[in-house]
Parts: sequence; structure tokens; C-alpha cells
Amino acid sequence: MELRSVDELMDLLHACRGGGTAPDRDRGAPVDSREHALQTAALLRRGRPADKELQVAGLVHAIGQLLRPGDDTGHADLAADSVRPLLGERVARLVRLHALGADDLVRMHAGGWADATLVEDVLALRHADEAGWTPGVDAGVLEDWRTVLELVSDRARATHHSPGA
Ligand SMILES: [Fe+2]
Repeated sequence: MELRSVDELMDLLHACRGGGTAPDRDRGAPVDSREHALQTAALLRRGRPADKELQVAGLVHAIGQLLRPGDDTGHADLAADSVRPLLGERVARLVRLHALGADDLVRMHAGGWADATLVEDVLALRHADEAGWTPGVDAGVLEDWRTVLELVSDRARATHHSPGA
């Protein structure tokens, strides 16, 4: 499924609730998946205020679980494919790579498949993803992100449609 509009994405993120305890955490924090998405994005906004694409990647990184519930394999690829037409190649790449282990990232870097900046960005996303499971944190509401999503989307479309790009 490819997301075609910010509204469509917002609807999907709105539906994103429940069942969202940290996957590899035995204490199962009572943070639902929408809250987790908001916390991940908010942490990236704090750490990397100028990088809207990275923040948006944090917001959408887990929509794969929603698109295909119960299927743990390929979530990151699925999420990346669905956001690529709307949010662009960089957001899609960050979402796809965030699920890789640190060793894989190091290997990609060593093999010339990922430059240092990309590895750094993916690690920032991973850290926010891991930290974004804190119960009781007020990370705002989805609507706060609409303008940023529209900005990233407009930019992605402009890049995509520009001649020679
Ligand atoms: Fe996550």
C-alpha cells in the first residue's frame, strides 16, 4: 500500500493505538503505538531540530505493524515502501534501515553502502525509537505534525518531479 496524501497518513497514524508495548522489553511499558510514534518524533525534534525528515521518519517508523498486523518480518521494508511516494527517498531509507542491527550498519558503512551521515542519522532514529517508550510523557498530539508532514511531502514531490531528478 502506498500512501498518497498527508491525510491518508494522518488517518493511519490516528488508527495506531493499542498493542504497542516495546517489542524487546519484558516490562511491557503501557505506551501505545501512537504514543510511541509521537515520543520518537519528539525526541528527534529535540535532538535534531532542523532535520524535519528525520523527525518524520521517527513519526512513521512503525506503521508497518499497522499495515500488516501480526507479521513481524519485513515491517520496516513495508513501512518504507508505503511512505516513499509521499515523504521521499530519504525518509523511506531511514525507516527501512532503522530496523537493522548496529553491526549491519557498520558493515554497510565499511562496504561503502552507507555514508557516515546516513549511519549517524539511522543511529539517532534507533536511539529515539528505543527511548520513546516512556509512560506518562506528554509528547503532544498528531495534529502538531501535520504542517511538518506537508512540508516534507511538498519537498519530496518537488524533488521527485523536477526534470532530471
Ligand atoms: Fe519503534
